[in-house]
Amino acid sequence: MSERPDTPVVVAPSILAADFSRLREELHAVEAAGADWIHLDVMDGHFVPNISFGPVVVKSLRPHSRLPFDVHLMIAPADPYLAAFADAGADRISVHAEAGPHLHRSLQTIRALGKRPGVVLNPATPAEALAHVLDLVDLVLVMTVNPGFGGQSFLDSQLSKIAAVRHMIDASGRSIALEVDGGIAPETSPRVRQAGADTLVAGTSIFGTHDYAAAIAALRGAPR
Ligand code: DX5
Ligand code: ZN
Repeated sequence: MSERPDTPVVVAPSILAADFSRLREELHAVEAAGADWIHLDVMDGHFVPNISFGPVVVKSLRPHSRLPFDVHLMIAPADPYLAAFADAGADRISVHAEAGPHLHRSLQTIRALGKRPGVVLNPATPAEALAHVLDLVDLVLVMTVNPGFGGQSFLDSQLSKIAAVRHMIDASGRSIALEVDGGIAPETSPRVRQAGADTLVAGTSIFGTHDYAAAIAALRGAPR
């Protein structure tokens, strides 16, 4: 699977690694630095062993950015909260395939709320889990770490899954973003791009630096 230089890469900074006492300023800074989307990681202390924030925070941030809000729900159950995240201003809402028995219904609900649905695969979940929901989604997120925490090491084992998902998306003929999340840095971004990813979530490798524009450019493959 070859990288497509003609496909512009989307960079979505994850605010999980931002300074939570200055979230508005952090949003402004990554927007000025060239970010494409804002990635918001919602964790419930149940589906994943960490708690982050909920729809109230998403809603309070919405007026402070012009960028699309890419909401990654790491919660179970997800269905009772989908409307709240839609109302809060999410543009894309992604749910984990592992989060409940009714993934198909969750994705239909997100679409019915007028938002773009996404499906997320944990590292242990095979690409085949997408087979009967690909027609419902605008985004597939392949986790390249186990969800729950920022700053973890990239899992090489996920590269073959990214390539498999790339084949499935191409075969579908639909326009579906292929996003990766976890351990994405200038060292790993060329590898996921080569495997077929077009959308890069990055927390530590952006917010952990002093120059967000240089960090985003480095993820895109431009010289620092
Ligand atoms: C992990 C989250 C990621 C996380 C990535 O559960 O879904 O979005 O913020 O963090 P880094 O880029 O630091 O690996
Ligand atoms: Zn995420």
